Amino acid sequence: MDWGMKNRFNKIIRPKDGRTVMLAVDHGYFLGPTTGLERFADTVVPLLPYADTLMLTRGALRNYIPPESDVPIVLRVSGGTSILNKNLLHEGIITSVEEAIRLNAVGLAFSILVGAEFERDTILNFTKVIDEAERYGIPVIAVTAVGRDMVKDAKYLSLATRMAGELGARIVKTYFCENFERVVETSPVPVVIAGGKKIPEKDALEMTYNAIQAGAAGVDMGRNIFQSENPVAMIKAVRAVVHENYTAKEAYELFLAEKKGEGKN
Ligand code: 5RP
Repeated sequence: MDWGMKNRFNKIIRPKDGRTVMLAVDHGYFLGPTTGLERFADTVVPLLPYADTLMLTRGALRNYIPPESDVPIVLRVSGGTSILNKNLLHEGIITSVEEAIRLNAVGLAFSILVGAEFERDTILNFTKVIDEAERYGIPVIAVTAVGRDMVKDAKYLSLATRMAGELGARIVKTYFCENFERVVETSPVPVVIAGGKKIPEKDALEMTYNAIQAGAAGVDMGRNIFQSENPVAMIKAVRAVVHENYTAKEAYELFLAEKKGEGKN
């Protein structure tokens, strides 16, 4: 890797432990005012000190995040369809690499819809963005397996993850599943998990713990943090699992203590 690529990559996956807590708040690009993000800045700004990276759209960045903030930005650059469209899984390029450079992004996130009707379009646009981003030393993160119709098992997720890595992604975001080791072991690049639909905090911390044990480099988590009854307590607990090797039980205790205002960190 060239210096610029290495430096940006290290701002996403922290070199001290090879792990990351990416905060995903890009949902508005196809879901509009998602629950928990209606008043975006009120929810997200207090979480910034605990996020290694913030993943969002250019519009959310410009309008809700103070430019004084030093959180590294991963820009969502694929989209083009809404939750109302039956062809939701047909995304194209929504933001140029030039714009990403102007916004000082350290990485780009692009969804590839492996197995969907328009898989080829999404993959060719993905590789086009990678070719351009690599020219400027910007890592591209593949977002895989979004979509209700996909069977998110280890067979499918390792297929999508391996494809993304071989096509040039520097990091792959996917979903946790049974036998997740297989997904990680067959990926040429680090793998992070999305949180998926909101589940109880205890379960989300268990999933995070299991993913880390299976070799994940961390999380790119959204709803299970910002829809939590206490988002700050939750991101601190997720961080403790990812960066401090807390067990799920210890992290849940931390969550409860933070929620009560008794936390130490
Ligand atoms: C979908 C995305 C999401 O915005 C992100 O994955 C959601 O994260 P979570 O499932 O943890 O809410 O990238 O394309």
